[in-house]
Amino acid sequence: MKLLITGGAGFIGSHVVRRFVLNYPQYLIYNLDNLTYAGNLENIRDIEDAANYKFIKGDIADEAFIRNLFQENQFDAIIHLAAESHVDRSITNPLEFVKTNVLGTANLLNASRMLWRDGNDENNKHRFYHISTDEVYGSLGSTGHFTETTPYDPRSPYSASKASSDHLVRAYYHTFKLPVVISNCSNNYGAYQFPEKLIPLMIHNIKNNKPLPVYGKGENVRDWLWVNDHAAAIDTIFHKGVIGETYNIGGNNEWKNIDLVMYLCRLMDQKLNREPGTSAKLITFVKDRAGHDLRYAIDSSKLKRELNWEPSITFETGLELTVDWYLNNQEWLDEVTSGNYLKYYQNQYMNR
Ligand code: NAD
Ligand code: TYD
Repeated sequence: MKLLITGGAGFIGSHVVRRFVLNYPQYLIYNLDNLTYAGNLENIRDIEDAANYKFIKGDIADEAFIRNLFQENQFDAIIHLAAESHVDRSITNPLEFVKTNVLGTANLLNASRMLWRDGNDENNKHRFYHISTDEVYGSLGSTGHFTETTPYDPRSPYSASKASSDHLVRAYYHTFKLPVVISNCSNNYGAYQFPEKLIPLMIHNIKNNKPLPVYGKGENVRDWLWVNDHAAAIDTIFHKGVIGETYNIGGNNEWKNIDLVMYLCRLMDQKLNREPGTSAKLITFVKDRAGHDLRYAIDSSKLKRELNWEPSITFETGLELTVDWYLNNQEWLDEVTSGNYLKYYQNQYMNR
């Protein structure tokens, strides 16, 4: 099995790459990543010398590059995670999201169609697995859950670009019989998450006694899932998911932002031996995000019922593991927050 994983130097992708490299030594894993600001080879340093692993730097939106790469390597299957992923950045620079998330996905679909069109798939290996988000379903009121049949209603440039990519994936299934599968997951947290997202940003700022910017009144609700559990779900769906199907992945774990930040403050006070209440004083309510979705909540009962997946740990345990990881990996955080890691990679690749 020649398995291409895109975006494997990012947050979730690095956990997926590690899991597949270690658990499936019989597969050849190709990690294609353009090393944008969110890509960091430090995230997968521990497996970079594995015999079944190869890193490729490149842009999924580059049509000729992708076509040649597929012809050269004859991939059997793809797990596609590469994307621009931060809602706030999509408000500042929407076109970058359209380019990578829409055009990039279309390029990969097209290259897969060309490669697999002879229909020679005796071992039923071919599979285009697209990783998406619950944000495509839009925003909920105080009740209800997203299911796999909830109509799409994306409301940010990020979620609209992911919704577009999902539509393209389904179009290639129906039109060209491309063997696709899609999953839509809720908010992830865990080790190696770039500290622009809520949880690592708050951990970093609490540690450094900096203000904790809570958008609006902190009333927005997200469902949080430990990234290792997302990687386990991806493993399950890749191997057992039914072609043409969509699976929702969630933690059944809804938190109001302000409650989550307060909880983190209490946990960090303990970890840093601070007086209870010290970190919470850093909370600062700031201008709300434009078009801020109120609530996401996912119904992942299909995945539990059909493929027997469920989260392995509680949020409290996952959050403590995550806080410990960030406190024990200060060097990683310093390199990322200072931007040093970018210079290092630019030089490394220029010198090759
Ligand atoms: P991330 O931003 O941490 O990583 C994205 C990776 O893609 C980076 O390594 C980056 O270098 C790479 N990349 C970006 N543009 C590229 C391009 N044009 N060509 C090649 N590589 C490129 O993102 P993440 O949080 O790990 O998310 C991974 C996937 O999971 C995304 O598709 C995202 O939509 C989806 N997702 C994320 C979450 C979440 O909570 N983070 C939840 C559900 C779904
Ligand atoms: P984020 O981690 O950016 O994920 P998403 O927007 O994809 O859900 O944000 C999670 C929630 O936290 C979201 O409601 C926005 C809010 N938020 C803040 O209140 N302050 C912040 O500094 C950030 C980054 C997010």
